[in-house]
Amino acid sequence: MRRNWSPLPDRENSLSDAGVPAWLSNSVGYEVYIRSFGDGNADGIGDMVGLLPHLDHLAWLGVDVVWITPFYPSPMADYGYDVADYEGVAPEFGTLDDFDRVVARAHDLGLRVVVDIVPNHTSDVHAWFEASRSDPEGDHRDYYIWRDPAPGGGPPNNWMSHFGGPAWTLDEASGQYYLHLFLPEQPDLNWRNPAVRSEFEKILRFWLDRGVDGFRIDVAHALIKDEQLRDNPMLMPLDGVTDASYRFICMDHRYDLTQPETLDIYRSWRHIVEQYDAVLIGETYVLDPADLAKMLPGDGLHIGFWFTPMHMEWEAGAIRRTLSAATEAVPAGVGWVQSSHDESRPVARYGGGDLGRRRSLGLSVLMMGLPGVPFIYQGEELGLDDGVVPADQLTDPLAVRNEDSVGRDACRTPMPWGPGPNLGFSTAARTWLPIGHGVEWSVASEMADPRSHLNRVRELLRVRCAITDLATMPTRWHDCPGDLVGFSRGDHIFVLNVGDTVASWQPGGRWDCVYRSVGFETDSSMSEISLVPAEAVILARSAPGPT
Ligand code: GLC
Ligand code: CA
Repeated sequence: MRRNWSPLPDRENSLSDAGVPAWLSNSVGYEVYIRSFGDGNADGIGDMVGLLPHLDHLAWLGVDVVWITPFYPSPMADYGYDVADYEGVAPEFGTLDDFDRVVARAHDLGLRVVVDIVPNHTSDVHAWFEASRSDPEGDHRDYYIWRDPAPGGGPPNNWMSHFGGPAWTLDEASGQYYLHLFLPEQPDLNWRNPAVRSEFEKILRFWLDRGVDGFRIDVAHALIKDEQLRDNPMLMPLDGVTDASYRFICMDHRYDLTQPETLDIYRSWRHIVEQYDAVLIGETYVLDPADLAKMLPGDGLHIGFWFTPMHMEWEAGAIRRTLSAATEAVPAGVGWVQSSHDESRPVARYGGGDLGRRRSLGLSVLMMGLPGVPFIYQGEELGLDDGVVPADQLTDPLAVRNEDSVGRDACRTPMPWGPGPNLGFSTAARTWLPIGHGVEWSVASEMADPRSHLNRVRELLRVRCAITDLATMPTRWHDCPGDLVGFSRGDHIFVLNVGDTVASWQPGGRWDCVYRSVGFETDSSMSEISLVPAEAVILARSAPGPT
């Protein structure tokens, strides 16, 4: 079945207790935002040909799974998350042959490839929506969610778009509204219609037959909506709240998100992907671990991203609670993320500059030690701060269509590779977003400096990979003193100093320090460990000395 088959290490289809294939449960993932990774044809936009040579960087770094953001034909109203054809490659990103070459090269390097599937909505220029809109009596009408206006006129209910404004747009011709949880150009599919389900089962097989190893499922928690489309209760009044994202969270999304029937979809997808030893990774944007667990009962999603760490306070108790809540709810299925193409970079969120960089790496050390699959978003390994994008060059619809929102451009500026035009991203005169960083933050500069963030991240991955306890041993949280947060996995301890003063701890017994996120000394046989502010360490129990 696999067209791009090439041998990969550890290929046997062994499953851990939680049903996650062994190849995934020991992996570290990496998100490639294709538009900003590498430009192969000098038009200022990243593409498949530009991604190809940089796969070596990912293998060198030590990641195992590469998730590529949507590259399908699209009018790019939401930069590819508005798909017009699920079985092609947008001309600006290349061709299907180019994609096949990326998969083949990745497999040669021992990397798995996960593609981003966008099932909640299509583009409004997708042939299904064009048919649905133009023929209210036709078969495609019910592919989307159409409703008459409310009895007094206006939208059928009070749901809001994530991107500002109501979640409904009126189609003058038919007098009905269609639902869109995102832009009006992203109409929501009707997942209660079995025809929509069969279309996607076919799409999954299309990519599996081309050799992909899994899917990152966009907005995985939202596919099914309340059958009666009831109004959502309000949590806070909207008066005076103008920021689109903030308005969205003023509402209790009881009826538009996290409907229990959504799991049935993943159960049927699971049967398909298992035939290919492939996996389902959900963009599960739920902040309550119980909601995450509902989508991972063992036969649904393999992995669900856990986003609450992106919003937690930098405080020891909050960090421990947020991390442990997810592993308790979903023992092996947590997708750990601290950055993505949708959020301000962690370095910026955690105080900026060196402080933000230390905190981000320290948190990574904990995430790399917990059960689940940690993901790195491109540039996170460089310790990038938010990119600088002048106001007149903002392009994200969230920013452009809402006066008060800064949008997501700052985390999407092109990847800095080295010296030269556009820091090696592109030889175009102008790139789609400006280059957001200085050359000192480029891959080439950081590679050359053994003390760089990049080399520290790479070393962390190398150390993690060698810790066999991570595959088998449970997590035991410690009641560490003061601002330390730590846990054991078998004979290893992972501990972070969240505070802003030096902290010491005697975990009992003797320990070798095998990784430090700030310092470099890796002492052996210590009974006490000291950590500078925002430093994390990994300790291994010392081998008993000669008697
Ligand atoms: C997801 C994507 C985001 C996109 C949205 C709508 O949250 O990560 O970039 O705008 O879905 O598809
Ligand atoms: Ca290009």
